[in-house]
Amino acid sequence: MERDTKIIAVAGKGGVGKTSISAAFVRLLTEAYPDKRILAIDADPAVGLSTALGVEVKETLDDIRKSIVQSVEMGAQREAIELLSEARFRIFDTMVEQQKFSFLAIGRPETAGCYCKVNAYLKEVINLLSHDFDYVVIDGEAGIEQINRRVMEKVTHLILITDPSRKGTQVVDTIRKVAEDLVMYDRCGAVVNRITDPALIPYIHVNNTDILAYIPADSAHAANDIQGLTVFDLPEDSPVMKGAREALVKMEIL
Ligand SMILES: Nc1ncnc2c1ncn2[C@@H]1O[C@H](COP(=O)(O)OP(=O)(O)OP(=O)(O)O)[C@@H](O)[C@H]1O
Ligand SMILES: [Mg+2]
Repeated sequence: MERDTKIIAVAGKGGVGKTSISAAFVRLLTEAYPDKRILAIDADPAVGLSTALGVEVKETLDDIRKSIVQSVEMGAQREAIELLSEARFRIFDTMVEQQKFSFLAIGRPETAGCYCKVNAYLKEVINLLSHDFDYVVIDGEAGIEQINRRVMEKVTHLILITDPSRKGTQVVDTIRKVAEDLVMYDRCGAVVNRITDPALIPYIHVNNTDILAYIPADSAHAANDIQGLTVFDLPEDSPVMKGAREALVKMEIL
């Protein structure tokens, strides 16, 4: 890799705040590094990052994949390398170029239950696009599938989000263990989100992973979400923004 690209993947159990924190990371990076190339990837087929960032998605990675597969089936004889560069071209075309960052959504394949093809594609795309960007933030799918399938293999910073529940911290523990073998990360850390009672912090343990930040439950954040506002509407010192900043500082990204 010619650039010293930082690829930040956000993972964890469902509903713990992955999308909120990924969006906060994107905002913080755009503010800190206005001259750098920043890419946000929504890798969750259930979608969400676009809303949090206020981005309108026109064509997804899965749409591109399908139309390229179709052109091959219709008899176009082309080399793999050519297909990949076409994909790259189309991805650039698709990426919503906000003023401050680019955006790509994986999309939702309609074949019931199987995301393997688009996940395999996503893995290539992460490798491919990382040459063109300085920072890539990936809002991952809930759970461990994308780690297991090595979609996140080339990630440099793995940030695991949990709520204070044991179930959440156990998922962090599991992801970390699997990631040790399957992700070539430089650094890994955890963020505990939606803490209702600070007195319970001493009871929150994550095995073998440093906790980068504790984020209190923030009713303003929830209200923001309900009103369909974006991360750019949050006050700079809101708990989620502060916690996300703390995590990036500890990871030496900010
Ligand atoms: N610190 C917080 N305080 C209050 N509400 C929060 C906080 N963090 C996130 N939320 C709210 O919790 C809900 C889930 O958050 P979010 O969508 O970011 O989680 P997720 O991990 O991406 O979920 P999923 O697994 O469904 O993708 C949202 O309604 C969000 O507004
Ligand atoms: Mg999400």
